Amino acid sequence: MNGATRKFDAAGKVYLVGAGPGDPELLTLKGKRCIEEADVILYDELVNAELLAFARADCDLRYVGKRAGECCIEQRAIEAQMIRFARQVKKVVRLKGGDPFVFGRGGEEAQALRDAGVAFEIVPGISTAIAVPAYAGIPVTHRACASSVALVTGHDAANEKIKWAELARSVDTLVILMGLRNLRKITSALLTGGCDPARPAALIQSGTLAAQKTCVGSVATIAGLARAEKFRSPTIIVIGQVAAFARQLSWFHELHEDGASSFTNITAGRFRQLMNQELTN
Ligand SMILES: C[S@@+](CC[C@H](N)C(=O)[O-])C[C@H]1O[C@@H](n2cnc3c(N)ncnc32)[C@H](O)[C@@H]1O
Repeated sequence: MNGATRKFDAAGKVYLVGAGPGDPELLTLKGKRCIEEADVILYDELVNAELLAFARADCDLRYVGKRAGECCIEQRAIEAQMIRFARQVKKVVRLKGGDPFVFGRGGEEAQALRDAGVAFEIVPGISTAIAVPAYAGIPVTHRACASSVALVTGHDAANEKIKWAELARSVDTLVILMGLRNLRKITSALLTGGCDPARPAALIQSGTLAAQKTCVGSVATIAGLARAEKFRSPTIIVIGQVAAFARQLSWFHELHEDGASSFTNITAGRFRQLMNQELTN
């Protein structure tokens, strides 16, 4: 794609490309060029399908994502496909939501390619970990209240490698991906570890897309809010003082005042009302 990498073209090559967080305009120029030139694209669930329109008409488009309740392709089988196509002297794009190296298995795939002797490039993408909070008006750092930020997986909240209490004590902003299903376990671990129950917390579903949905509460209330407001995957959880900025800076929701995008800033009274409704239904 540039002078330094042309020598690999004759041998086939894999590009691990970040598709960005959802809004198609948040794809990088380099990512777009990879898609335009690809012979084969292996793409994931959270890639915006609009981006595939940049591919050549004869490009082989293969969905290798995981949909809830459906059988999915094993990680090793995806790696085997990348290697096989590259050995057929093809330009292969492995297109992933956000950034390939942020909870995207990009590291594993690069290792598999290296072990197989296949040339590769990493094309970083705009990660949802930063962009989704930004679209909800949440800066993950702020000079007044957040000097540090941690990106954490909530996929396996019982994973003892994740020291929730220590994280809450030592890091100002926690951005939790894949944590919706385990939100109650996560907030319990934080509270047990001494986290202030009033510490602001926000949920953002389908961030950067017109359907974006945001809700702001606290560590004590956010798991109940997620249930009451019926949050679904994909959702990002932000815990820390910065989460409260969503109340003042929710610029993206204001652009979509036609109702496609929604913002809920729930007071304790409204929360109790919602929970009572749910209990009596
Ligand atoms: C496997 S991780 C992939 C992260 C990706 N590599 C990145 O850099 O953004 C998938 C998780 O990212 C978050 N996510 C992805 N797209 C999102 C979106 N548009 N809105 C909110 N969360 C999103 C969700 O927490 C989801 O469970």
